[in-house]
Amino acid sequence: MCGIVGYIGNKSVVDILVNGLSQLEYRGYDSAGVAVQTSSKIKVYKAEGKLENLSSVLMQHKSEFADSTMGIGHIRWATHGAPNVINAHPHTCNCGNLVIVHNGIIENYKELKVKLEAKGAKFRSQTDTEAVAHLIAYKYEETKDLTEAVRLATQELDGAYALCVMHNNEKNKLIATKRNAPLLVGVGEDEYYVASDVPAIIPYTKKAMYLNDNQIVELSRSEMKLFNSNGEPIPQKVEILPWEPVALSKMGYKHFMLKEIHEQPDVIRNILVGKLHSADSQITLDEVKLDKQTLKDLNRIQIIACGTSLHAAMIGKYIIENFCGIAVDVEASSEYIYRKTVTDKHTLVIGVSQSGETADTLTAIKQAKARGSHILIITNRPDSAMAREADSLVPVNAGIEVSVAATKSYIAQLVSFYLLALYMAEIKGSLDESVLKSLKSELTLVPQKIEQILSHKEDIQKCAQHYANTKDFIYVARGINFPTALEGALKLKEISYINATGYPAGELKHGPIAMLDESMPVLSILMKGSVYEKLLSNSEEAKARNARMIALTNSTSEKLKELFEFIIEVPDIQELLSPLIAMVPLQLIAYYIAEYLGKDVDQPRNLAKSVTVE
Ligand code: M6R
Repeated sequence: MCGIVGYIGNKSVVDILVNGLSQLEYRGYDSAGVAVQTSSKIKVYKAEGKLENLSSVLMQHKSEFADSTMGIGHIRWATHGAPNVINAHPHTCNCGNLVIVHNGIIENYKELKVKLEAKGAKFRSQTDTEAVAHLIAYKYEETKDLTEAVRLATQELDGAYALCVMHNNEKNKLIATKRNAPLLVGVGEDEYYVASDVPAIIPYTKKAMYLNDNQIVELSRSEMKLFNSNGEPIPQKVEILPWEPVALSKMGYKHFMLKEIHEQPDVIRNILVGKLHSADSQITLDEVKLDKQTLKDLNRIQIIACGTSLHAAMIGKYIIENFCGIAVDVEASSEYIYRKTVTDKHTLVIGVSQSGETADTLTAIKQAKARGSHILIITNRPDSAMAREADSLVPVNAGIEVSVAATKSYIAQLVSFYLLALYMAEIKGSLDESVLKSLKSELTLVPQKIEQILSHKEDIQKCAQHYANTKDFIYVARGINFPTALEGALKLKEISYINATGYPAGELKHGPIAMLDESMPVLSILMKGSVYEKLLSNSEEAKARNARMIALTNSTSEKLKELFEFIIEVPDIQELLSPLIAMVPLQLIAYYIAEYLGKDVDQPRNLAKSVTVE
């Protein structure tokens, strides 16, 4: 979380910093701030809340930085200290000569604070970052060399950081460094850009250098120098970013989330091209680097992920076990990393992440890698930290997802799991030819089925508005769609703040049924197949407790009308592919409820798109 930017060159810096921060707002929006080198001294401007508040502050001070060409900026997702102006970055040392921006968490900041206070430092904020500002300032007093001061200070830090630093005495120097947090340097003509992520620099340059942990980069207008943690100069690896500047436009939609929901049919078509040629030919998945014999012998897979990606992973488990007969464990990365996990070189470990930067998942895959497992990464960001750890990299190619609530990246992860499971099943010979053929052929029809759903989204909107004022919401399903129920509930929770929960329908009677009464909406994901009748019975049980029943179904049975007060019909599809269809109306329900309630759909409170702290 948090995003940092920096610039040194000959252009007007404030626009570059603010544009960069606007591209990083997905990383947090609790506060924003910039520090710029003016002709007299460094000046700091900050505002609580979204970037637009900072822009208003900057407008009032325009004349102070008209000629400034060097500065740093920050967008915050609060970890230590409330989201207010005092805790907003940039932070300074007591004399105000040194300014820093930071993404990450300094785990030993309390110990550092005690030591620094003993030396005379006066802390003004509740942040962990301020300790770093004071620490570097003391090191600078000793060394009079900003690069060396940063190097010495970072040796005393525990935890994760990406830092960008400036000092009043160094009017042509910007220092950046990182450990366990993303950071790259964009290289222009007599100018350099620093950013947590590509979108902040891609409008200006495609040449960039990713920093590795503990490397320190020293930037002046004419030169870039790179050092290792011993302070020794090391070679620089500048690469051309495989990205085009994208105008992040809502294309006429009210919110990015709605636009991204509508992009899903094309996202699926895009993924299938070149991989699924026809129902009769084998899946091509060159991204999987395990040799065929190893894949045939594989008897254990672990999948690790968080949030929405975790729900995609649960469906991944279901289909890999079903298609390939390989045992799969799925675990939240945040749990996986703090127990004695049994992983070795015979285990395939799959990390799933939209951003490829989620700290818990990144740590988990590093742990598994250290134990010798082959690491397969399914991500929407082939340039991410996780991608760089991958032995096999499966990009999901959903395109940039702006809305904090993941939609198209989830569907893209699911399609990637289908391709992977089918690919492995073909190698293992674990599925009947006819089953394989019918799965492949129906997979190609999914985009148009989703388009059918989108074409009658007004019915779903009506249903959403009908239930918008509820306090709680329950989603139930069984089998392959249980994770769909979890994901439907997560979508609703995160953008409408309604207390929504997903249950395996068979579990209702073991406790949750006690909550049911005439005020509780229960949505049954009632897709035809092996558990249809069972789920129907569970829905009857809920109806008998007066719950407000809603069905999401591909059944046209007239009987359903007696049981459900609302029926959302979706196109017919075989059970094993049904999560791809069932999720879309649930995304729309969450969207329309949140929109009806006037919530900030694309940037819900307390969340960030990329969770780079554990
Ligand atoms: O980038 P990742 O897929 O690793 O992110 C994991 C979760 O933080 C993410 O899915 C989160 O739950 C989303 N806000 C869901 O909409």
